[in-house]
Amino acid sequence: MPIAVKSFFHQQSATFTYLVSCLDTHSSILIDPPADFDAPSATLTFTTANQIIGYITTHKLTLEWVLETHAHADHITAASYIKQQLKDKHPCKLGTGAGITQVQAYFSHFYQLDMPCDGSPFDALFDDGDRLLLGNTHFDVITTPGHTPDSVSYLIEGNIFVGDTFFMPDSGTARCDFPGGSAKALYASLHKLLALPDKTIMWMCHDYQPYGRELANNTTVQTQRLKNVHLQQSEHAYIDTREKRDATLSAPQLLHPAIQMNIRAGQVPHPTYSFLTIPLTVLL
Ligand SMILES: [Fe+2]
Repeated sequence: MPIAVKSFFHQQSATFTYLVSCLDTHSSILIDPPADFDAPSATLTFTTANQIIGYITTHKLTLEWVLETHAHADHITAASYIKQQLKDKHPCKLGTGAGITQVQAYFSHFYQLDMPCDGSPFDALFDDGDRLLLGNTHFDVITTPGHTPDSVSYLIEGNIFVGDTFFMPDSGTARCDFPGGSAKALYASLHKLLALPDKTIMWMCHDYQPYGRELANNTTVQTQRLKNVHLQQSEHAYIDTREKRDATLSAPQLLHPAIQMNIRAGQVPHPTYSFLTIPLTVLL
């Protein structure tokens, strides 16, 4: 069944959002939409999300799902905002990997948030092999933990949306040092994706444009297998390289606001007057 893939690039977090539509029915899903956040003033805005909503409206698409590939640490999701904005046109559902309950349990304790850890406010939690309808076609959920325990990828008509697993072949793979992350688990997930047919188009969640090269967001499974700079080595060497590199990486700039918001699907605790927590580390 023919589908269309439209990507949007969020410069602030180098994140790609994908709007995937069934060309026959105009049913659509949206993967990883970001909100805009000004850290110094802690101000949340939705310019990017409004552009995406504008595209959906202009092209007369029916948004069925807003899907997350995982609880992001580098941007705040606009999932709940978009659901709210479109609710009078067509109710859409929020979906993510079932591992979100584990992420909620860990971080609600860490940030001392009083919230249920049952996956809500997401409407659906996905397990490996789940299959959902998109217009006249289906999409499949593949669990791909490692970067985070809730990471999933979405397979739609020969296109795989991989979240933070692979980056473009010249950039390697995602970090694994967040709570519940595991280089060994990511290695297994990467190979799970490499088992897909060679021509499967792989769509990235991020591109950081190494050495100033042009922005890129997709490649094929075959190209990843042959050229990904992190995968031309044994499992043992990969894990060792990954863990050593992760030990040198800084925390993402929006780590604390992003995680606190994203485990609630981007729901604002109070519409106009809310607080986020910043844990203090003191090194003497
Ligand atoms: Fe991530």
